[in-house]
Amino acid sequence: MCKDAIVFHNKPKGVKLEAGVEYFICSCGKSEDGIFCDGSHEGTGCSPHKLTVEKTKPYLMCLCKTSGFFPFCDGTHSLYKDEDVKKGIKEWHLK
Ligand code: FES
Repeated sequence: MCKDAIVFHNKPKGVKLEAGVEYFICSCGKSEDGIFCDGSHEGTGCSPHKLTVEKTKPYLMCLCKTSGFFPFCDGTHSLYKDEDVKKGIKEWHLK
């Protein structure tokens, strides 16, 4: 995970991804939709996460940017409160 990332949201979002398509997933939390990289990471130490899936189906995407299973949700978002949204990720994730 990126130490410069911000918490885009404290809940995940389901998104349908197509098999075989190369996606660039936002790891910085600063993109417009919080899921796909739009270049907003420029100037941060973050870079997008390249992703290709084998099955076309909905996936639960991490928006807190600290999932241990990034870019997919693993429930870590439950550690963030509403007031943590749009702020830097917690230090305990950087160790
Ligand atoms: S906009 Fe967040 S990684 Fe590119």
